[in-house]
Amino acid sequence: MSINNNNNTSSNVTSPLGRTGRVVIELQDVKRYFQVGSETVKALRGVSFKIYEGEFVTIQGTSGSGKSTLLNQLGCLDTPTSGEYYLDGVPVSKMSRNKRAHIRNRKIGFVFQNYNLLPKTSALENVELPLMYNNEFTAEMRREAAIKALEAVGLADRMNHKSNQMSGGQMQRVAIARALVNNPAVLLADEATGNLDTRTSFEMLVLFQKLHRQGHTIIFVTHNPEIAEYSSRNINLRDGKIREDTINNNIKSAEEALAALPKPQDD
Ligand SMILES: Nc1ncnc2c1ncn2[C@@H]1O[C@H](COP(=O)(O)OP(=O)(O)OP(=O)(O)O)[C@@H](O)[C@H]1O
Ligand SMILES: [Mg+2]
Repeated sequence: MSINNNNNTSSNVTSPLGRTGRVVIELQDVKRYFQVGSETVKALRGVSFKIYEGEFVTIQGTSGSGKSTLLNQLGCLDTPTSGEYYLDGVPVSKMSRNKRAHIRNRKIGFVFQNYNLLPKTSALENVELPLMYNNEFTAEMRREAAIKALEAVGLADRMNHKSNQMSGGQMQRVAIARALVNNPAVLLADEATGNLDTRTSFEMLVLFQKLHRQGHTIIFVTHNPEIAEYSSRNINLRDGKIREDTINNNIKSAEEALAALPKPQDD
């Protein structure tokens, strides 16, 4: 089923996840142009969509189609050349740099391909970090929230391990716990399984699907078309425009896919 991106009708679309619920993200004709010498690069040429609370959206497209440019908009790291972006109902483009940094810290959890953990720092300290900028949290509350987030990603037994004492999959779990610790409105992932082997990638997808079931809103940018089969909606970009926006009514189980993988060989 294709979603109609016309603003007048999109709110009437219903999905198994209740797309009539709260809109977390809304883009209205977002354009992002870059001036390179005398040339204008049109990285986003008018992108409009709404993302509802509890959706697990994959964003795909060939290299250069505008995925990272779009993610930078969604993550409040950049502002549009024209058009508007509403995050939790708040228009982002006119915000000051400071206000954007604040909203980014409170409303967005980032997961990157290369984990971006502090080196030689424990899992617990890495996860506590985003809360350092939040004066509503005392040291004790920070620790408590970080422990809870690490438990949620299955790392209760690795809290005191340092970044260099963990596997890629474990580091990515720490990064996901760090992204979740602020209880953000949306979780943004950029090629979050890009550096991981097949089995570990599926373990990560199991975790993302669990977070999705718990009601988290997830946006996952990836080159890998297979991952779309595990999300609830897929947005396909081409030349800075939406080529296709489809609801997945037949979400595959990452758990089943993981169980079906050949067992790792013992030596
Ligand atoms: N800061 C910039 N200055 C100039 N051009 C840029 C800038 N950032 C991106 N572009 C251009 O905008 C287009 C979209 O780039 P973007 O990085 O969003 O693509 P992508 O879909 O993420 O590609 P990939 O899959 O290779 O990561 C490309 O043509 C790129 O060269
Ligand atoms: Mg990119």
